[in-house]
Amino acid sequence: MDAAEKEEISVEDEAVDKNIFKDCSKIAFYRRQKQQLSKKSTYRALLDSVTEGKESTRFQIINEAAKVPLLAEVYGIEGNIFRLKINEETPLKPRYEVPDVLTSKPGTVRLISCSGDTGSLVLANGKGDLKCHITANPFKIDLVSEEEVVMSINSLGQLYFEQLQIPPKQRATKENEEDTSDDTTQENQEELGLWEEKFRNFVDVKDNGPASIGLDFSLHGFEHVYGIPQHAESHQLKNTSDGDAYRLYNLDVYGYKIHDKMGIYGSVPYLLAHKLGRTLGIFWLNASETLVEINTEPAVKYALTQTGPVVAKQKVRSQTDVHWMSESGIIDVFLLTGPTPSDVFKQYSYLTGTQAMPPLFSLGYHQCRWNYEDEHDVKAVDAGFDEHDIPYDVMWLDIEHTEGKRYFTWDKKRFPNPKRMQELLRSKKRKLVVISDPHIKIDPDYLVYAKAKEQGFFVRNHEGGDFEGVCWPGLSSYLDFTSPKVREWYSSLFAFSVYQGSTDILYIWNDMNEPSVFRGPELTMQKNAIHHGNWEHRELHNIYGFYQQMATAEGLIQRSKGKERPFVLTRSFFAGSQKYGAVWTGDNTAEWSYLKISIPMLLTLSVTGISFCGADVGGFIGNPEAELLVRWYQAGAYQPFFRGHATKNTKRREPWLFGEEHTRLIQEAIRERYTLLPYWYSLFYSAHVASQPVMRPLWVEFPDELETFGVEDEYMLGSALLVHPVTEPKATVVDVFLPGSSEVWYDSKTFAHWEGACTVKIPVALDTIPVFQRGGSVVPIKTTIGRSTGCMTDSPYGLWVALSTKGSAVGEFYLDDGHSFQYLHQKQFLHRKFSFASGVLINSCADKRGHYPSKCVVEQILVLGLKKQPSSVTSHSPDGKAQPVAFTYCAKTSTLTLEKFSLNIGADWKVQIQ
Ligand code: GLC
Repeated sequence: MDAAEKEEISVEDEAVDKNIFKDCSKIAFYRRQKQQLSKKSTYRALLDSVTEGKESTRFQIINEAAKVPLLAEVYGIEGNIFRLKINEETPLKPRYEVPDVLTSKPGTVRLISCSGDTGSLVLANGKGDLKCHITANPFKIDLVSEEEVVMSINSLGQLYFEQLQIPPKQRATKENEEDTSDDTTQENQEELGLWEEKFRNFVDVKDNGPASIGLDFSLHGFEHVYGIPQHAESHQLKNTSDGDAYRLYNLDVYGYKIHDKMGIYGSVPYLLAHKLGRTLGIFWLNASETLVEINTEPAVKYALTQTGPVVAKQKVRSQTDVHWMSESGIIDVFLLTGPTPSDVFKQYSYLTGTQAMPPLFSLGYHQCRWNYEDEHDVKAVDAGFDEHDIPYDVMWLDIEHTEGKRYFTWDKKRFPNPKRMQELLRSKKRKLVVISDPHIKIDPDYLVYAKAKEQGFFVRNHEGGDFEGVCWPGLSSYLDFTSPKVREWYSSLFAFSVYQGSTDILYIWNDMNEPSVFRGPELTMQKNAIHHGNWEHRELHNIYGFYQQMATAEGLIQRSKGKERPFVLTRSFFAGSQKYGAVWTGDNTAEWSYLKISIPMLLTLSVTGISFCGADVGGFIGNPEAELLVRWYQAGAYQPFFRGHATKNTKRREPWLFGEEHTRLIQEAIRERYTLLPYWYSLFYSAHVASQPVMRPLWVEFPDELETFGVEDEYMLGSALLVHPVTEPKATVVDVFLPGSSEVWYDSKTFAHWEGACTVKIPVALDTIPVFQRGGSVVPIKTTIGRSTGCMTDSPYGLWVALSTKGSAVGEFYLDDGHSFQYLHQKQFLHRKFSFASGVLINSCADKRGHYPSKCVVEQILVLGLKKQPSSVTSHSPDGKAQPVAFTYCAKTSTLTLEKFSLNIGADWKVQIQ
């Protein structure tokens, strides 16, 4: 690498320089939409053009300025979903429609058209409880559920659609060198950025000219909206003001600023809205640069309206207007009608897929650093965990493990024998993850490069050659993962016979896949680079990383001949990335504010389908003080993807480097994670099969409690545990909100209990992780912790039974081999249900299709909230044998502990408390 390249790369060493990135004022399609919309030219639907196809109802819409009409299509989709597509009827050339995101072609249901009054059309689902009321002039769609208008589309008249045009130069030749300036001055041309757009030193030449689209949605009665990750922002979306919008444009923003709406690594163009009695979703399927404006008008309880001499009191409902704008593509939007949060999660995953079932090891703790230097270093760090009796599952190797950042190779000096190193990890049932980025070093002697070059597998530049840009290895080309052929080939690189030095304990990390291009505009690829099918990069920018993770996951499955579940972490993502693995929040900073914002950032990912998400523990950039590091481990232990990571020039920060006391605290936090592994795994199963997020904002669990809608410093893990991580320095007390007026909550350590619907002051020491179990739940745990998840396969279980105010509790437990697809293909799994009522705890089968023999026993049961000391406890095993069970009862905390017994976790049994 030459000096200039080195200098360029060191850009990454500093905190974010916002000038590198655009704000709205620098985005031409934003300016054009604003300018046009201020002119208020409205669309009308031509209802005499309505045709009813097999799948959709079609009609034309037109506005005065547009020369040709647009075609609108309304689909009814299974599961109470509507889809609206708007495209040019006969575009000059096809416009990009995002492929590969929808899991399969969504099943349509026939909509029945009931004639509205003249000038309108009503389309109803079979039951007639959901309707689309289409008004012709001005064009508007109302979504009506049980006679209530819940959403209106284009009621603000922000429908915007730039039709493809013949480039001015061609037009000029055609029209015999006529003046083509379209009465726009040079200055105005620049401002509009129709065929060319400048930013800093970059010029985006647009062969297809302007192609932007936009549409507004008014959500009636809604004040709370969520989703559209990824932003380092609050969970509840904020109002945007003029010149400010949530941007969805995948970018590599090292040390991103928090409380900012700029786009960072990934995009899920999906927004949820919630109010008492209803949750809705809007999924805007578009992979080009997208902006979302939000305006919430809260309810004014009583507005004074003067009608004649009488002053009347009138209730004004709240409303949230959401305005989507994309640079390109078509309008393709799914309206998810709920009505519950759980229904909306199911509707979204019906479209984009559920969370992949992770291999069990990946729910353990991951140890990463840029970089673990060499095999010796890896060995020493690995041994450090054992010496300090800290469990961990995965060692990670960053870019420096390769031969000059040539992925799929090993630096021969540092890692002379990668297999030997993996055998060491394997002996402790641990795994290795290595990095594989999408940029490929330009070096004809590098096999991956040579092969890709030869087969034309790189993204091309505007001029038709291979796109070249600078990234870690210096000058590189970028694999075109949008091509099925390229993906197939890339997948094949993970075969054990091809990837020298890899074994079946090696898994993959995809990074820099926004893609990151150091000298590119906004540190990414030029929008006029060309992909498979001749599509411009601008059309599909936000989905590039999605495709890399897809190909990687597929590669890992293939190398095992379809048997093993993959693990792939990706930095960039799109709607549906949950199908391929895990996501993390990129280059955060070792500051308290970043620890704090990790919670809303992960909640937002979670409600948009991506359950397997985490933030770098400790903060990637900078050096955390011991207290921050401890608090971060405590928070991370209760977040889905749990990995410690640090950038290159930071001080080493393995858990034992901060003195004995801090080592112990970190050890305890990690051990808590391993204690709860059965619960985590069961939650992931529920995300996988039933679409329910693992980490849940309180509003999801308490949709009828207004006070929960804005909470984001605490959350639920599944439906049983409420976690309120400490995110302030020197905290001695935290205010914990315990929701639900009919709930009771138990402190998971002290067993103290509170009734819900109150805020309690919880004293905290440095060893406190405020976790509360909800009355009415059963949480399965492990009673013995091993070195890694693999070492705990046979270790016994415990159950935490927390009684509701009615003295009952339920919970579930899922188990399989932890790594293969046998659970799916051979139904080799165990799904149990625990229920407690009238003093009897019953273990029964939750899914009879599953079979998985387990030798494991339940050896401890804790019953919280038992008001009275029992006189006897008896277990009844499947063969009908009754046996007394030893117990201790603590009257002070109303806690019953059953110990020294062993009942198989997979068998039907009862424990009776009298
Ligand atoms: C990026 C990643 C970071 C990684 C580094 C080197 O900054 O976000 O996690 O360590 O690249 O690969």
